[in-house]
Amino acid sequence: MCGIVGYIGDKKAYPVLIKGLSRLEYRGYDSAGIALMSNEEDLRVYKRQGKVQDLVDFVDGMDIEGNVGIGHTRWATHGLPNDVNAHPHFSGDGDIVLVHNGIIENYDIIKKELIKRGHVFKSETDTEVLVHLIEDIKNNSTVSLEEAVRIALNEVHGAYAIVALSKHEPNKIIAAKKSSPLVIGMGEDEYYLASDATPIVEYTKNVVYLEDEQIAIIDRNNGLRIISISNKEVSPYVQELEMQLEELEKGGYDHFMLKEIYEQPRAIHDSFRGRLNAQEGWISLGGIRDFEERIAEANRIIIIACGTSWHAGLVGEYYIEDLARIPVEVEYASEFRYRNPIIRPNDVVIAISQSGETADTLAALKMAKEKGATLLGIVNVVGSTISRVTDAGSYTHAGPEIGVASTKAFTTQVTLMAMLAMMLAKKRKTVTEERFNTLLNEMEALPSKIEKLLESNDYIRGIAEIYKDAQNALYLGRGSSFPIALEGALKLKEISYIHAEGYPAAEMKHGPIALIDENMPVFVIATKGENYEKVVSNIQEVKARKGKLVAIVTQGDVTVKNIADHYIEIPDTDEMIVPILATIPWQLISYHIAVMRECNVDQPRNLAKSVTVE
Ligand code: F6R
Repeated sequence: MCGIVGYIGDKKAYPVLIKGLSRLEYRGYDSAGIALMSNEEDLRVYKRQGKVQDLVDFVDGMDIEGNVGIGHTRWATHGLPNDVNAHPHFSGDGDIVLVHNGIIENYDIIKKELIKRGHVFKSETDTEVLVHLIEDIKNNSTVSLEEAVRIALNEVHGAYAIVALSKHEPNKIIAAKKSSPLVIGMGEDEYYLASDATPIVEYTKNVVYLEDEQIAIIDRNNGLRIISISNKEVSPYVQELEMQLEELEKGGYDHFMLKEIYEQPRAIHDSFRGRLNAQEGWISLGGIRDFEERIAEANRIIIIACGTSWHAGLVGEYYIEDLARIPVEVEYASEFRYRNPIIRPNDVVIAISQSGETADTLAALKMAKEKGATLLGIVNVVGSTISRVTDAGSYTHAGPEIGVASTKAFTTQVTLMAMLAMMLAKKRKTVTEERFNTLLNEMEALPSKIEKLLESNDYIRGIAEIYKDAQNALYLGRGSSFPIALEGALKLKEISYIHAEGYPAAEMKHGPIALIDENMPVFVIATKGENYEKVVSNIQEVKARKGKLVAIVTQGDVTVKNIADHYIEIPDTDEMIVPILATIPWQLISYHIAVMRECNVDQPRNLAKSVTVE
């Protein structure tokens, strides 16, 4: 949450900062601000409630010169989203400005102490407390900005990625991080800073990922130096980015979400490329090869995740238990970490995360590590914190996901779960050769089946049109399609603000059935398979109460087509692959309804893509 950027070099800082903030807007978009510096004593801050475009409109005609600058796009934690609480924040004497992503947990105690010492605060933010603390240390101990930052960071608890400037040290940027991400781009005599690599990739591919409790001192004359907050020198480890610039553009689509829905055939193909081969009959996850034995012999697998990634974990539970016969528990990371869970030495903990930065997932992982578990990561963002703290893992290779509502990240996570289950089943000999080969073939056929399904987009838009004014919606599914009901409901509520609930189809009669009337759309997955007849009975119950029924059916189905008000056919496939295919119509329904309701599809209200606060 919150995106931060910085630049120091020969370019004009303003365009770099604004473009960078636009790329990071998915992290928070309730206010935005920048600080620019041309030379000593010349430090200007512009900030505004609203989106980055509101900031651009605000600074029109103002002095935007300067080769050094920092910027911030906010997702409010402490204090309302308004001009005053927007970052950057000044120190009391106006010498230092700071942008911050994270939460300073002991800000209240520090604030009270600083108030006693005469500090006056303008905003309600924890960030302003930190910049005043740095000022207090800098002035009272007459130390440099970096030393004041270092001392201050030893006094704060919580999470931070910060970038600071002082008007008395105009050739320098100081940055630091703990639990919130920060990347430094290394150009020719110029440096970029950002919460992730997306604002950096068009200028340089050489980056340094700052580690927790490290401080970067970037001096225009002396380059980059990194120290720890305990004042030890650290050699910067420069890595090369694999990301391509085109992946960050809308590429002709109206929204990133639609582009990302359409990217799923490619994304899923990338997620299994080089990892399975139907002709030769093998599957192999390189990133976890050294841990295969360990996972196959685990007493239990615990999957931890949040939101959509948690839904992918639920599908994984069905897959692994059914195919590999290893007990699986799926936990909300935020609950798991606070309930003193029992973790035995033989347990394997798998974190699923698109961003690889989700604070709760990260904290749960750290707790599991302390209890001695083996940690694996299924992560999309290469080089992200979760990918670095886990013992091993596999990237989903979905490519950058910019739309706040997760789409291709989810289907690639489920693809990875399927591959993991298949790999374990093969190793544990709990799957027949025939089923294993069928699954391999179905996995390979998945991208072209999704392409086929996407051809129904206009037809699905027509269904969306009918239900766009609904107040509530119910999503139903059974077995491994139940998590897809949850995911369908989450997609609808988060981008169109229609209240929606996902339920196991058979559970409907234990409560939610009371909600059903002629105004209630019920979205159900009723594909051919073991539970087909049971689902047919469940949907009869909906129709008997005049509910409106939209059903996902297997191509060629007759029975459900005759009962449902609307149906969407998906290509025939193995039951295990259905959850991936069935996700796509629900993504498209939500997308079109949100567009028709004139909602901000890519940046829904109150949300942010990377949730780096607990
Ligand atoms: C919903 C969505 C969120 C994320 C959740 C976890 O569309 O995107 O529910 O799934 O915030 O994020 P990651 O996967 O980055 O850990």
